[in-house]
Amino acid sequence: MGTAAISPQAERFNLPVSEWVTSTVDPLALAPVSLPITSVAARAKVLFVTSELAGLVKTGGLGDVSAALPRALHPLHDVRVLMPGYPQVLNSGNPVHVISELEGHAALPACKIGRMDMTDGLVIYLVICPELYEREGTPYGDNNGRDWPDNHIRFARLGLAAADFAAGAVKCQWRPELVHAHDWPAGLAPAYMRWRGQATPSIFTIHNLAYQGMVSSGSRRELGIPEHALASDGMEFYGKLSLLKAGMAYANHITTVSATYAREITTPAFGCGLDGFLQSKAEQGLLSGIANGIDASWDAETDEHLICRFAANDWLGKAVNAHYVRQLFNLKPSTGPLFAVVSRLVFQKGLDLTIGVAGHIVRQGGQIVIIGRGEPQEEEAARELAQRFPGQVGVLIGFNETDARRMFAGSDFLLMPSRYEPCGLSQMYAQRFGSLPVARNTGGLADTIEDGVSGFLFEEPTVESYAAALTRAIKVFANPELLNAMRCRAMRKPFDWHQAIKPYSALYLRLLKANRVSLAAPSLNGEIS
Ligand code: ADP
Ligand code: GLC
Repeated sequence: MGTAAISPQAERFNLPVSEWVTSTVDPLALAPVSLPITSVAARAKVLFVTSELAGLVKTGGLGDVSAALPRALHPLHDVRVLMPGYPQVLNSGNPVHVISELEGHAALPACKIGRMDMTDGLVIYLVICPELYEREGTPYGDNNGRDWPDNHIRFARLGLAAADFAAGAVKCQWRPELVHAHDWPAGLAPAYMRWRGQATPSIFTIHNLAYQGMVSSGSRRELGIPEHALASDGMEFYGKLSLLKAGMAYANHITTVSATYAREITTPAFGCGLDGFLQSKAEQGLLSGIANGIDASWDAETDEHLICRFAANDWLGKAVNAHYVRQLFNLKPSTGPLFAVVSRLVFQKGLDLTIGVAGHIVRQGGQIVIIGRGEPQEEEAARELAQRFPGQVGVLIGFNETDARRMFAGSDFLLMPSRYEPCGLSQMYAQRFGSLPVARNTGGLADTIEDGVSGFLFEEPTVESYAAALTRAIKVFANPELLNAMRCRAMRKPFDWHQAIKPYSALYLRLLKANRVSLAAPSLNGEIS
């Protein structure tokens, strides 16, 4: 890891926006979108605060979105990322330059801020604090799936660094005008900003309401949280502190990752105990759903991970990938339908339901391949399923992007019986690769799958409801004309980021405008009084 001052290259990235746009770095390389670039003056400086970013460190869809959304927004806004300096990031081969130091606060240690310039121009600021982040494991725990006991300190440090950045405490020419924080690990960013009276507006995006970052109220002083925050309109949740609720309570606006999930979380069935709080935010116009997109690498015609690239209607090319997948999972040769599961193995994703329908699938000539990692009992259940159906069900416990892509390309159907799904990316990836999702009619699945057109939806999280959708899918498989028409429809669906960046951009500009008005207002009031 380099610790020198900013390199000449990094200096170049610190140019004012007008020069950045005409610099030798090709801004289009950052964002393969054809939206018109708005006037330079309207480009907002946005700090995107996240705990993972695909390409460096990822455990699920948050990582994909953190890597793709700042790049997709680039033609419109100057979005830079702030994340912890995990070993996977510091050792990723991209030079890191320390640009500033930040003081500690309460039990949060001091840290350094590093700057890493990705080859495509994305700027990532790193919170460098070896005692908190330089550990073997995932962003959240050790390699055995146990959470780090000091996660509250680790992610409070991230949130405080974001607040410091917005306050101008980081010594660099770039200061965010807006902070966009993601999920509970970034939840304290809007909170520290509010408690310190900072005017910079913030947005908090919920990617998954079920992960709440709960901390005992005894940790309040350690984290430097004021006493008044322990209230129902603050970050208190059943006597504890919730980092997720902090983000929601103190941000100027809350978004979540699909329109349907935005509605669902205001109901007791999906609200994880926060439905009343969210309903009141929704009534005040402070909660919106903006669906994720997927990046341009999800194209079966160009994806170099695939064994054989293919276009819609080139089903022989798709079959080559299927052949590879069957061999990879030691399945018997078959001309029946191939079903894939590419998923974190957690209760949300409904593996138990897939286990419940596996016999139904195999009896009708289908085969199942599962790649995933997650809770130990779920991993064990997946292994047992493969043992129960040797040669017909194959399981890989692990995380492997290349094989995941080949599975989307080679399978006929993707199984996604999620109990809830804030957005879901796998079902979009699958459709792009001509694999029709069989999924529950919830959240982002409901918004991105057209039942009977690009996939199959079922209502209840039960084996019966799921099996009925599978029967429909298997019937379609037996009718090649219909199957191929559905595959073509699925592959042509427009899932790119265009649709997401317009509402995010509009929201950024609205909050910035409201902030300017409110900054002007107190002095006016002062004069009047
Ligand atoms: P979630 O974020 O809830 O896990 P998403 O569908 O939004 O669900 O995103 C999941 C992401 O993680 C996708 O990029 C998917 O391909 C990837 N993924 C999940 N499990 C694996 C795995 N075992 N190997 C490779 N990629 C995986
Ligand atoms: C979460 C959700 C998933 C969503 C992803 C990215 O992990 O479970 O539905 O697609 O975040 O927003």
